[in-house]
Amino acid sequence: MNTPIIKVKRLAYVRVSAPDLKRAEEFLCEFGFKVASREGNTVYLRGSDPSPPCYVLSRGASRVTALAFEADELGDLEKIAALDGGSPIEALDGPAGGQVVKVIDPVGMQVEIVYGQALLEDVDSATPHRFNMDGERHREGELPAVQRGPSHVKRLGHLVLESADPRSLYHWYNEHFGLRKADEVQLPDGDAMMIFSSLDRGREFVDHHVVGFQFAVDEGARVQHMAFEVGNFDDLMGGHEHLKRRRYKHVWGVGRHRLGGQIFDYWANPWGVIHEHWTDTDLVNEDHVPGDMQPAELEDYWGPAPSPRFLVARWNFKTVRNLLRLFRAKTSA
Ligand SMILES: [Fe+2]
Repeated sequence: MNTPIIKVKRLAYVRVSAPDLKRAEEFLCEFGFKVASREGNTVYLRGSDPSPPCYVLSRGASRVTALAFEADELGDLEKIAALDGGSPIEALDGPAGGQVVKVIDPVGMQVEIVYGQALLEDVDSATPHRFNMDGERHREGELPAVQRGPSHVKRLGHLVLESADPRSLYHWYNEHFGLRKADEVQLPDGDAMMIFSSLDRGREFVDHHVVGFQFAVDEGARVQHMAFEVGNFDDLMGGHEHLKRRRYKHVWGVGRHRLGGQIFDYWANPWGVIHEHWTDTDLVNEDHVPGDMQPAELEDYWGPAPSPRFLVARWNFKTVRNLLRLFRAKTSA
């Protein structure tokens, strides 16, 4: 395998635009973010981890406009700036300072590499919850530490990029940023349906996936969903009830994924952009051996089947043809 140009340290933030900033911000605060700062028509939102804002909201047509990774050193930004299509290194907008370089991926998504951001002050996080379960008693003489209201988003954990050719897009991210295949789901003809990738941090354990490269049934390209870690299972379920009471659009869940192992719950913002709450992911390091699986082996540990709204961003002739192909693959094993 070739050496990547750089190996990124973590997924830093997403830039998302929405036609109505007030409604978008309301959804995000009910989802569990806190506003870190505002600059003109841009709102910087954060989780409870001290890392800089992980969600940059601005006014515009509803879509995810960029994703960003943090680099280990300034020299990594210089390597990206030197590429064909790499931008000059500039000062990064937002309250945490730092520098940024930008490059466009093969499907037109802006990827930003940042370095030198400052950490933020502590804010409220979910109260740790101890259990009397599995034959062990960790909560003797204590009531459950469950708070009503929104979940507590900790950080941005992963996102899924949909495209017509997920394998070649994965190779681009592998060659540029060192993302490493964690597991792959293949169709019977060998085409990739989903390639999960993790950060390559050697011995250090990292989330099972930081970017998923998924086959888009309409053969378009987009960020299919963004996923944010919350405090714990009770924090996720409390947030579920809260969003339901606020009448936001539920997309899929609650369940526990087979690949990645996390407990998941998917919600849509007012324009249909999918945001995931998750907790308790699988952790992997360089010893993890990627698996090649068939769609039929993907059944979640528990939870409902994916909803049409999760599977299909846009209906067209290709959508119908590809859904039939996936259905056959899932039932043929
Ligand atoms: Fe996810």
